[in-house]
Amino acid sequence: MPEADIRAFKLAITARYPGGHIANLFQTDGGALNADTLQLTRGSDGDVPFVMATERLMGYEQLVGRWTDAQHRAALRDGRHAYFIARRDSQTVGFAIVRDWASPERVAHIKRIAVCQPNCGHGRALLAGLVNVVFRDTEAHRIWLGVYPDNERARRAYEAVGFQIEGIARGSSFFGGTYRDELVMSLLRPEWSSRRPPGD
Ligand SMILES: CC(C)(COP(=O)(O)OP(=O)(O)OC[C@H]1O[C@@H](n2cnc3c(N)ncnc32)[C@H](O)[C@@H]1OP(=O)(O)O)[C@@H](O)C(=O)NCCC(=O)NCCS
Repeated sequence: MPEADIRAFKLAITARYPGGHIANLFQTDGGALNADTLQLTRGSDGDVPFVMATERLMGYEQLVGRWTDAQHRAALRDGRHAYFIARRDSQTVGFAIVRDWASPERVAHIKRIAVCQPNCGHGRALLAGLVNVVFRDTEAHRIWLGVYPDNERARRAYEAVGFQIEGIARGSSFFGGTYRDELVMSLLRPEWSSRRPPGD
C-alpha cells in the first residue's frame, strides 16, 4: 500500500472532521445515535487505506494497535477475521475488526475498533450495530474485547452498549515493545437479547 494513499486518507479524515464543530453534524434532533443510524458493511481490500489511516490518527498512538498493509490483507484472507466499515450517509466514520468470526467455540473477539471523530457517539453506534450483526449472523454466545484501563472514553462507550467488565488480564497486550494490562469486557447473547426492543 503506497504511503501516499494512507496520507491522503488521513488528510481527508482531518479535513472532514476538523474538530470541535463536528459534534452536531450527526446528531438527530437532539436524539442519541443508535445502531440503526450507521450503515455497517463488510470491509475488503479497498478499505485498507481507510483502516490504516484511522489507526494512525493523531492521539490514537497509545490507544489502538496498528497493522501494516500486509497484515491487514493477510487478516482479510485468513478466514478468522471479519472487517466492518461504518458509514453515516455516504461518509465513512469508522471501522471494526472481529476476530474468531463465526468460530466453532461461539466466542467472538472485537480485535480493534476506531472512529474518525471520537466523542460524537459514532463508536457506540458502531459497536451496537456490530454486536447486532455478530449475534444475528453467527451463533456466537459471547463477544469480548480488551481495553487499556486508562481508556475511559472507550470503556464508557462499551458499557453503554451493554458490555460488562470482567477484570484485568495482566500483560495481555504486547504494544509498542512493552506488555500492557487490558481490561476485559464482554457481552453475552442473553444479555443482548434482553436489551432488544420487544418484537425485534
Ligand atoms: C473508543 C471509541 C471507538 C469510542 O467511540 P466514541 O464515538 O468516541 O464514543 P462515544 O462518543 O459513543 O462515547 C464516549 C463516551 O466517553 C465519554 N468520555 C469522553 N472522554 C472521556 C474521558 N476522558 N474520560 C471519561 N469519559 C470520557 C463521553 O462523554 C461518552 O460518554 P457519555 O455519552 O456517557 O457521556 C473512539 O473513542 C475511538 O476510536 N478512540 C480511539 C481508538 C480507541 O481507543 N479504540 C479502542 C481501543 S479498545
